[in-house]
Amino acid sequence: MAHVWRGVVHEYINRLPVDDNDEIVTLAEGGTALVRSADLSEQLHADVYIKVEGMNPTGSFKDRGMTMAMTKVKSSGTQIVACASTGNTSASAAAYAGAAGLECAVILPAGKIAAGKIAQAIVHGAQLVAVDGNFDDCLRIVRQLTEKYPVALVNSVNPYRLQGQKTAAFEIVDTLGDAPDIHVLPVGNAGNISAYWMGYCEYAGKKTASTFEESWKSEKPVATKVPQMWGVQAQGAAPFIAGHPIDNPETVATAIRIGNPASWDYAVAARDDSHGNITCVSDKQILHAQARLAAKTGIFVEPASAASVAGLLQHHERGHVPEGATIVCTVTGNGLKDTATALGDRDVNPAVIAPRLEEAVVALGL
Ligand code: F0G
Repeated sequence: MAHVWRGVVHEYINRLPVDDNDEIVTLAEGGTALVRSADLSEQLHADVYIKVEGMNPTGSFKDRGMTMAMTKVKSSGTQIVACASTGNTSASAAAYAGAAGLECAVILPAGKIAAGKIAQAIVHGAQLVAVDGNFDDCLRIVRQLTEKYPVALVNSVNPYRLQGQKTAAFEIVDTLGDAPDIHVLPVGNAGNISAYWMGYCEYAGKKTASTFEESWKSEKPVATKVPQMWGVQAQGAAPFIAGHPIDNPETVATAIRIGNPASWDYAVAARDDSHGNITCVSDKQILHAQARLAAKTGIFVEPASAASVAGLLQHHERGHVPEGATIVCTVTGNGLKDTATALGDRDVNPAVIAPRLEEAVVALGL
């Protein structure tokens, strides 16, 4: 019988901090496709794979961490969860809170969330608060809120989030047979790069600063090596390039419009210990990569996700991509969440014709 995917906690339970009495809250997240891009592989003379995280139940990688975090909140007996978000965390938290029978409060930067993500939070039943400020302001408020009130924080500063997110690295190794040479991904609040690094290290039998003793059961190594971690930021929101937090982050990739990343130290460790790098790309490069990935590989991602591909292309232009390397690019969220940005000023009204073949032939110029 075909294997039925049961969600990341069940699939990787030996490597996660799950207790016997935890009731696992899952929407069967994970098990996402790793698609080889012929277009990118050909241009780079390398093997380029795309880890399609938009295939998760709420359309982003956040679901991997949310299954773990929400499972633990449920066991703790706390009734309300809260998060700050640029959109995807709130969509995921709202869905998983609903599944767990918990209330969900989300604190968002006013006017800076893609419409699809707002719709998700509302339809999944969360209570929304918009702040006249950016994500960093929202995270500060939600941290204070969860310190003073009986409300559980489900941002990635909740360590269970990274535990769940590390499973994406496991899946990649399980699919490829070993770790890739290079892993490229967008960096915003810096939780995901930290989680991937933890996952790759644990699979190679190494610990990192963010490894949980509780989940470190010294399972046998699966991978013989770890990849270089190549993080990519948006130029207007690139604190790791500046070397310090920045005050007014601005980018078309609203998901990574963050100036003061919470997982700063873990991300720097991932970059340095893997002999990798964190670079930045312009909004124009991001939109170009988004369009190219959709048109030539067949994968529609949101702008923040396209930053990884834009960063990889920039490294290639600079001659930094070794020929023949195995490279994985994580694309973190589904393009359908933010169609307005993807369409930009493109004409979305095709010519209307009478319902006759000849007219269609003329309209298509055949
Ligand atoms: N890509 C997407 C689509 C995201 O939504 C995020 C973060 C990132 C990349 C960056 O990941 O923060 O772990 O470095 N979104 C958060 C949110 C901040 O609230 O949804 P990171």
